[in-house]
Amino acid sequence: MTQLSVPHLLGTQDLTLDDFNLIFETADNFKEIINRPIKKVPSLRDITIANIFFENSTRTRISFELAEKRLSADTINFSSSQSSVKKGETLLDTVNNILAMKVDMIVMRHASPGAPHFLSKHIDANIINAGDGTHEHPTQALLDSYSIRGKHNSFEGLKVAIIGDILHSRVALSNIFALKRLGAEVMVCGPNTLLPKFIGSLGVKVELDVFKALQWCDVANVLRIQLERQQIKYFPSLREYSLYYGINKSMLDRLDKEITIMHPGPINRGVELNSDVADSEHSIILDQVENGVAIRMAVLYLLAGARPEA
Ligand code: CP
Repeated sequence: MTQLSVPHLLGTQDLTLDDFNLIFETADNFKEIINRPIKKVPSLRDITIANIFFENSTRTRISFELAEKRLSADTINFSSSQSSVKKGETLLDTVNNILAMKVDMIVMRHASPGAPHFLSKHIDANIINAGDGTHEHPTQALLDSYSIRGKHNSFEGLKVAIIGDILHSRVALSNIFALKRLGAEVMVCGPNTLLPKFIGSLGVKVELDVFKALQWCDVANVLRIQLERQQIKYFPSLREYSLYYGINKSMLDRLDKEITIMHPGPINRGVELNSDVADSEHSIILDQVENGVAIRMAVLYLLAGARPEA
């Protein structure tokens, strides 16, 4: 198989096992290339990509931009705070005006769940969802799964706990869809108030006690408390959250095995994760960031329908 089954990357729910394997194998090639002294290939030389971000981002935005540059694509960066969106222009008008300038692909982050799905029904260009509200963040889940594959080789029988603010997390949902498709066992852990009511229908284990989750898992993917999406109080205070759900080194020392610690970033140090864990030998957090560039190169390349460089 040399092509993805989808024309857009809207979510990991849409991807087949063959899609995952193709993306991972393509990322393996690009990871080798970006570790060479000359990191650039001409694969997307005639492609123009617009990165349109309606929400803040550090990792995803820079990672996409770097991936595009490594593939020799032309790129433009759009930030809603400095745009005509502020004058009342609609999303569709904004994107159609960008596409009229002969842009081929759109990478979009938007606060509204379903915004990239809506666009995909109205425009011809390939769309990559760089995070839509609390819905999906497919390239994050791809780079997370790819990092797990790099560390543990196989997903068969692997136990992954996703710990934290599941309710507001697009990373959680995309990871659940991806990991289950790849054959891993998935648990979610957090206070009851931060677990969505539909979580039981996704075929994951649910655990309220964080230490029990750590005892169960081989990999803990720890998520940030998304205060910016919380209109009401879901727990009494950050201090209390940290006391009951924060992960520190003494907890890892009490386990009878080594586990892998992940975090998609940005980290609230001292809240969901202490520095003695985030910066420890258990952590693959910066490997996730490194792998993000190769994964995004693979996705851009495959969606553009190009062929790998020899
Ligand atoms: N992980 C992630 O999406 O980070 P940013 O919000 O910085 O892009």
